[in-house]
Amino acid sequence: MSMRDSAQKDYNVPQKRHWRRTIWNTILKHTGGREQHECILYLAGPHDDDRAIAISKGVPARNLIAIDRDAMNITNVRRQHGIGICDTLQNVLSWWPEHQKVCAVLLDLPSGLEYDVLKCLYVLHRDVFMDAIIMVNLMKGRDRWSNDLRAELRYLCPSELDEKNRAKLAIVAWLLITLFPGGERSFTEAHLHDQSTKSIMTKLFNHIVLNTYEYRSGQLVFNSVVCHTPLHGLDCIGRSSVDGHDSEEFRAHMCVAFDDPHDHVKSTTQRKLAALFAVRTKRYGKLLNTTMVTT
Ligand SMILES: C[S@@+](CC[C@H](N)C(=O)[O-])C[C@H]1O[C@@H](n2cnc3c(N)ncnc32)[C@H](O)[C@@H]1O
Repeated sequence: MSMRDSAQKDYNVPQKRHWRRTIWNTILKHTGGREQHECILYLAGPHDDDRAIAISKGVPARNLIAIDRDAMNITNVRRQHGIGICDTLQNVLSWWPEHQKVCAVLLDLPSGLEYDVLKCLYVLHRDVFMDAIIMVNLMKGRDRWSNDLRAELRYLCPSELDEKNRAKLAIVAWLLITLFPGGERSFTEAHLHDQSTKSIMTKLFNHIVLNTYEYRSGQLVFNSVVCHTPLHGLDCIGRSSVDGHDSEEFRAHMCVAFDDPHDHVKSTTQRKLAALFAVRTKRYGKLLNTTMVTT
């Protein structure tokens, strides 16, 4: 069986079903009821299995927003009367309207630590996601792209960190994106081996409460974490108490880390989001207590 076939098959294995329930329990424990009024963004996949689990745990269908770049998967979501958008995660997260509150984002990605994963994490630094609970699920492997990066990241991991755990390493990489103006392009040896960087990383890493999980599906191993965005609550540490770096400075750095999508991409995604919110409002009307903001 090819890697692609095994990844497809993975969606329905008992281990993944068990994992999915556990993940939702943890996420909803942390959202603490906000899911009644705020959106949860997740990747649909071929069977939209998350929707049924979430609804069975009390999440209103109107607040579940499926995303998938595969049109067939979104057609399936809509056939089941779900709400979905066919676009890349990066685009949707980049142009998600500021006024539509989000309490959780589930990144169940069929890859290891790839460039696209870092791009998705990077856009999650937008203010609209600052209070969201983030779930990252990544495969161990299939990520030759990050071989060198992962080797470098190991120097920055606190000693108790499982350095092979892709989801945890993604969080470490995410923290680095907050620290250096050039985003992932700035992962240079000079930065990574710098002791002050390491001490900032350790302080920030200790600040994040990570719930970690692992499951196996045949030969594949998946790592996941559920946590707040790394900058959540950073202001509580004190504006300039993290070795002289304050959160304003981090945020300013983040704004220049990755190239913005082209204007035509932005307007296409904004049109799709406008259509999504129009459908949601038409279907659920007064049940929505958020202001309707389309783009
Ligand atoms: C692992 S599946 C999600 C499965 C779902 N969480 C479940 O448990 O049934 C990942 C899905 O995300 C989609 N996907 C992967 N990367 C994406 C991206 N960058 N943007 C949009 N969709 C993406 C794939 O097409 C695939 O259907």
